[in-house]
Amino acid sequence: MSQLGVLRLPRTIDFGVLARHTLTLAVTSYGDRALIVVDPFLATTAEFEDAVSRLRDVGVGVEIQSGIEPELPVETLHSAADSAKKFGPDVIVGWGGGSALDAAKLIALLAAHGGTLLEYYGENRVPGPVVPLIAVPTTAGTGSEATPVAVVADSNKALKIGVSSPHLIPSVAIVDPELTIGAPPKVTAYSGIDALVHAVESYTARSLDVNLAETMPVSVGQNRLSDPLSLEAARLIGPALETAVARPGDIEARTAMARGSLLAGMAFGSTGVHLSHAIQYPLGALTHTPHGLGTGMMLPYVMEVCAPVVPDRLAEIGEALGVGADGAEAINRVAEIGERIGLPRKLSEIGIQASDLPQIAELTLESRRLTNIAPLPVDLALIARILEAAFEGDRTLLRS
Ligand SMILES: NC(=O)c1ccc[n+]([C@@H]2O[C@H](COP(=O)([O-])OP(=O)(O)OC[C@H]3O[C@@H](n4cnc5c(N)ncnc54)[C@H](O)[C@@H]3O)[C@@H](O)[C@H]2O)c1
Ligand SMILES: [Fe+2]
Repeated sequence: MSQLGVLRLPRTIDFGVLARHTLTLAVTSYGDRALIVVDPFLATTAEFEDAVSRLRDVGVGVEIQSGIEPELPVETLHSAADSAKKFGPDVIVGWGGGSALDAAKLIALLAAHGGTLLEYYGENRVPGPVVPLIAVPTTAGTGSEATPVAVVADSNKALKIGVSSPHLIPSVAIVDPELTIGAPPKVTAYSGIDALVHAVESYTARSLDVNLAETMPVSVGQNRLSDPLSLEAARLIGPALETAVARPGDIEARTAMARGSLLAGMAFGSTGVHLSHAIQYPLGALTHTPHGLGTGMMLPYVMEVCAPVVPDRLAEIGEALGVGADGAEAINRVAEIGERIGLPRKLSEIGIQASDLPQIAELTLESRRLTNIAPLPVDLALIARILEAAFEGDRTLLRS
């Protein structure tokens, strides 16, 4: 078994209720000009306004960029970066869900290196450090506060595009579970199940032949240092997600979710994720459904095809989810969580036609960066089988 271990993380992570009050010290450790990237709704919340007043009270010059649009169309990021450059921030703060955090990363990239985002699509194309980033998530979550990834929508491309580089890992992550209390049930459900997908896919990643002295891929595959983080994330998210969706004000459930999604982000940020994510890209583009809805729907099917090749890993996930050291029970439990939080049961329910499946399968294979992390060989036939089973809503089709 590979003994490889790599963690690339923020240099400071502050976690807990009221952790948001560490923002002022974090900002002033970089300077006295802060650009805050936030979505238009969150910019109106009391917690956000309080954070801005605290910064202004100590003399920090604050500019607020609240024009963040869902899905992050690239054009909006280019114009946001132009005004960021004029302001000249010492630090950029992303405050919000994955969309705002990813926008902050990309604005920090463009403000430091110029050009257009097209030049940075893919892995390891960011030439050096970006403007220092502080990430304050309000969903639990994408884990973006700890990852080297940002995702954009380019109208010239069929799929959403990733920009991945260790330089995009925020310098500081401030994770305050109270900030997630206001997240609506669907946002809680989809971003929460995505965090579970991050935990399971990083724990089942393929062992890659990586020579760290020669190359440093963004995703290193199976990883002895991220393994405990992935399992602990599953342990936390398993019982908490349904509660957080059903009772949004339950601070215990919100705290478990915020910690679980952070740990999952810390894990997959170095290890990578695989098939549910590779399939979600074309699925999301075709149906305009949220990222976590797609990854969450696909996960039980992906676990099913992984089961014969990584039985021990799935059994350990079963233990973490409280259903015993049994891979089949782990898959059942993941499917049950999905049902209880309201994920659609089959692809036909989100508007996919049988005739769409071949095209989705082909586009899935374009995400080689992701499919390479799967623990089994991936070809068109495998993706087609997964999609057919998910279309019918019948996992047993994958067992023969
Ligand atoms: N960078 C990464 O590592 C990574 C990982 C997974 C997903 N993503 C990306 O993240 C995006 C999804 O992020 P998301 O699921 O966090 O949602 P989001 O940022 O797109 O926000 C969804 C909606 O929820 C609202 N919202 C968020 N927090 C709230 C709160 N506390 N109270 C009230 N409303 C709140 C927002 O205003 C918005 O309307 C996708 O674009 C996806 O591609 C990135
Ligand atoms: Fe994800």
